[in-house]
Amino acid sequence: MKIAIIGGTGVYDPKILNNIREECVATPFGIVRFKSGEYAGEQIAFIPRHGSTHSIPPHLINYRANIWAMKKLGVQNIIATTAVGSLNLDMKPGSFVLIDQFLDFVKNRVTTFYEGGERGVVHVDVTTPYCPSIRKTLCEFAQKLNIPIHEQGTYVCTDGPRFETPAEIKMFAKLGGDVVGMTNVPEVVLAREAEMCYATVSMVTNYAAGISPQPLTHHEVLETMQANTENIKQLILSALEN
Ligand code: HPA
Repeated sequence: MKIAIIGGTGVYDPKILNNIREECVATPFGIVRFKSGEYAGEQIAFIPRHGSTHSIPPHLINYRANIWAMKKLGVQNIIATTAVGSLNLDMKPGSFVLIDQFLDFVKNRVTTFYEGGERGVVHVDVTTPYCPSIRKTLCEFAQKLNIPIHEQGTYVCTDGPRFETPAEIKMFAKLGGDVVGMTNVPEVVLAREAEMCYATVSMVTNYAAGISPQPLTHHEVLETMQANTENIKQLILSALEN
């Protein structure tokens, strides 16, 4: 298995794949259950990051187990999706962003496989955290499919599960953030530590707190995601065919 899809909020359905099987794999961090299926002659793994019924909140996702499991299966390329709020008025709800940088504002997560001891101490390079080659493919196909896409953007990761205050959003914008979400750190970092190519398609579901004229709701996030699921599906399928 060389390719994995990690589905974020609103992307729970692996039905785009054929001959779907339930599988599980043991890791030092616990057992990971996932689905596998075929597409365009490839065996593909699919993990819904929040569980198949959105029962796992962002701060309780077993990021290390998920990435370890994919590595153990031989996965080399991961395409992830995330729902994000936008801090950048040019990045409108309904559009996609191929993030190329992140700002790490998580406080309560282990963000490494390397905690000393047997596995040692490693300081991984994250100059280019997201795979340029997968991003390029996704970008080309989004343009072909007429899907509104921003070729780059900086993702701010918070712990959640609460949304941000308007003061936090103002600060993140001043620091250069474009979109905000709750899951990409440590996922991207762990994929890098595991030496896998990793890219994320961020789907803008709302303007962030204080930019949006009304209080944020998870319902709003889901509604925009659902309206754009077809786009995400088409984009990922085209990339898989390549
Ligand atoms: N903030 C954090 N995470 C999110 C948001 C947001 O506004 N929208 C979707 N995921």
